[in-house]
Amino acid sequence: MRVNGVEIGARPAPGQCLRTFVREQGWFGVKKGCDAGDCGACTVHVDGHAVHSCIYPAVRAIGRDVTTIEALAGSPTTEAFLAAQGFQCGFCTPGMIMTTAALDEQQRADLPRALKGNICRCTGYGAIADALAGVCSLDTGTSTETGDQVRRSAAAPAALGVVTGRAAFTLDIEVPGLLHMALLRSPHAHARVRGIDRAAAIRVPGVVAVFTHEDAPDTTFSTARHEDPDDDPYDSVVLDDVVRFAGQRVAAVVADSLAAARAGCAALVVDYEVLPAVFDPDDAMAPGAPQLHTGRAGIADASRNIVAEVHSAHGDIDAGFAAADEVYEGSFTSQRVQHVALETHATVGWMHDERLVLRTSTQVPFLTRDAVARVFGLPRERVRVVAARVGGGFGGKQEMFTEDVVALAVLALGRPVQLEFTREEQFVATSTRHPMRITVRLGATRDGRLTAMQLRSLSDAGAYGNHSVGVLFHSCGEAVELYRCPNKQIDGRVVYTNTVPAGAFRGYGLSQSAFAVESAMDELARRLAMDPTELRRRNVVHPGDELRPVSGDAHDVEIRSYGLPQCLDAVADRLADGADLPADLDPAEWRTGRGMAVSMLNTAPPGGHYANVRIAQRADGGFRLMVGSAEFGNGSATVQRQLAAATLGVAVEDIELVGSDTDLVEHDTGTYGSTGSVVAGMAALRAAENLRSLMVAGSTGGGLLEADGRSDGRPRSVAFTVQGFCIAVRPATGEVRILRSVQAVDAGTVLNPMQCRGQVEGGVAQAIGAALYEHVDIDGSGRVTTRALREYHVPVFGDVPRTEVVFAETADPLGPMGAKPMSEAPFNPVAPALANAVRDATGVRVTELPMARDRLFFTLGGTT
Ligand code: FES
Repeated sequence: MRVNGVEIGARPAPGQCLRTFVREQGWFGVKKGCDAGDCGACTVHVDGHAVHSCIYPAVRAIGRDVTTIEALAGSPTTEAFLAAQGFQCGFCTPGMIMTTAALDEQQRADLPRALKGNICRCTGYGAIADALAGVCSLDTGTSTETGDQVRRSAAAPAALGVVTGRAAFTLDIEVPGLLHMALLRSPHAHARVRGIDRAAAIRVPGVVAVFTHEDAPDTTFSTARHEDPDDDPYDSVVLDDVVRFAGQRVAAVVADSLAAARAGCAALVVDYEVLPAVFDPDDAMAPGAPQLHTGRAGIADASRNIVAEVHSAHGDIDAGFAAADEVYEGSFTSQRVQHVALETHATVGWMHDERLVLRTSTQVPFLTRDAVARVFGLPRERVRVVAARVGGGFGGKQEMFTEDVVALAVLALGRPVQLEFTREEQFVATSTRHPMRITVRLGATRDGRLTAMQLRSLSDAGAYGNHSVGVLFHSCGEAVELYRCPNKQIDGRVVYTNTVPAGAFRGYGLSQSAFAVESAMDELARRLAMDPTELRRRNVVHPGDELRPVSGDAHDVEIRSYGLPQCLDAVADRLADGADLPADLDPAEWRTGRGMAVSMLNTAPPGGHYANVRIAQRADGGFRLMVGSAEFGNGSATVQRQLAAATLGVAVEDIELVGSDTDLVEHDTGTYGSTGSVVAGMAALRAAENLRSLMVAGSTGGGLLEADGRSDGRPRSVAFTVQGFCIAVRPATGEVRILRSVQAVDAGTVLNPMQCRGQVEGGVAQAIGAALYEHVDIDGSGRVTTRALREYHVPVFGDVPRTEVVFAETADPLGPMGAKPMSEAPFNPVAPALANAVRDATGVRVTELPMARDRLFFTLGGTT
């Protein structure tokens, strides 16, 4: 075959798919998102026709012309994606461009159909639609005035590499002598491993080594990564002799090919002692329930499987309800949701100069380095962690799911080893959003003043407590702090069960509590015969209010900028305008409704978040900005560059950005908690300010200058988001059609409007999926049964309406040049706003997510 015009002499192996064959020839622009033909990340052209190369036998391409994204550089489609910046992480982008480049005019007229085989998890498809419409979103001005570098839609530094397939993601490199790892996973939800017979596995041709719990260190850790490791229970080891969920790793096989490693896993004989298991958090706390963890640190009450609990009260809750004219109480349930970052978890490791090097898909390279060093008893200086471009994270890569076991093999063998999760492993063995059951009770006077707020929360940690403590506290935080109320009470627990672990996910628990509280506020407004927006106006916090945290500790959050009233007005105005029922919907069958919800987000995590940035002059007059935070599509790298350029009075293009490498800069906590722009961005700003001072002082000594900047994200402020929907519901089928979506955001100074709008559009799209379709299912024996993207409805192009994004006019004195974070916040108010719209349309309050079509059909009675 010919690939991009180059004759290929090699022949595919029997059964090899075109994707892996083409990548073996060095065309790394062809990505793996699912290996099942579901996501389109691997799309190439064969004789001009777009195909999913992961399910296209390589042998069928013999004698044909295969074209990959690399050959489309400079093409009209590539240029259109560049002009519209039609990507965020960029992992889906090569496939998206290949698909769209092959469309004929007729297909372009029906894009929802034409693009149904290409998933983008980041953008919400708005920027992709712009690219297809020929929109140029970039501000290509060449001014170097300070004020012109912010509030400017500058291009992402990696933009050209992303659209041409040349941006290297984690595994997009050639590593000579590479070995491959596969993991054997438990079929049981709870079992003790009595023994593993590895003899047959070792005899498999190509197998190099087998690792079990007998070969791994017994140092406990949490897969969750936080600045302070004590934030999470020390309940995990690299390979355990007890498995606590179906899908937990039992052994690792390393071989000279992935096929041999998998065959080695299949040949392992494991003697399990099956133990009683528990799958419901209430059952798990009951006397006599199986105890998941013993003798491991950081667990609140291991005997009752309670990872952590929070009990907090202000005022007198009973007196508050006694003073109320109206009281509403309801219980709300949210489900397991998967991140579905298009790039699966992956690590490749090797030894270099007696040092362990891990190139990995992570949001937290420094914290991963520290954890690996600790687990294997190495000095930190002997471990280097590099995050290349990361193909989506959403919190799921604030974990250590692959790095530890790869380190085990590399240190033992001294050879390069790679581990890449399959899409099925992403579902069964990584993490999900915490399922929660939250009961909210609200009381208010007739004039709409809250007198009492009570929240009782039960969160399911799954088998391990990674992020469970922080998620519980956060979910009990801003959703309640958002409102002035003299009497508040919160009781929350997070509990182990023998199910796939939950973890960090965009919003960090706040979306679950926002669904409960904002739904309850809507019901309370109805009982008071008051407009829901007006009820919020009368009760939301104001600047100067004391924000009281659930922990009871002194709070370091202040409202230093306040665009919430603007956001409420903007959404209310647009909802008042309504939306027309499309001509294809019969008014006799469809009911229309409107709903809104509010969310507040503190601008940095409470447990400490640090960023160090270095900036250096280059000999050619430009500057090199070295940042420790990882870029996974959130756009932090773009605004860090803008902030430095604005400070130095140069063009953004004069700032070269390098980062995500523990050898290059001092410690950075990582890209999570919406900190990439405001914490690492502030450090970049300060580094640039310090360099500017040196330059002004003229203290060069003849050499090139460099300077450092640091930020701890403190003091913290708040950001607000308000979401509104106009929808149509068809009770006879349970269908929901979104007629209008608007989100107003208080993001402070909007450093890059195009990018900030993209974050909002992407967050809303992801949240629509979680509100309407997405759920990871578990059967009666604790096994995840959702194992492929086709069984899990990630919104595709045709599912997502364009969200109108409105920016409040504010500037926050605590943020870099006035900016506030806007990565997580857009997600949180979406589900309750949709539920409130369904209530408005049908009169029925939906209390369980997702509001899937079958659930709505039964809830609404299936009638018109
Ligand atoms: Fe599409 Fe990240 S940009 S998946």
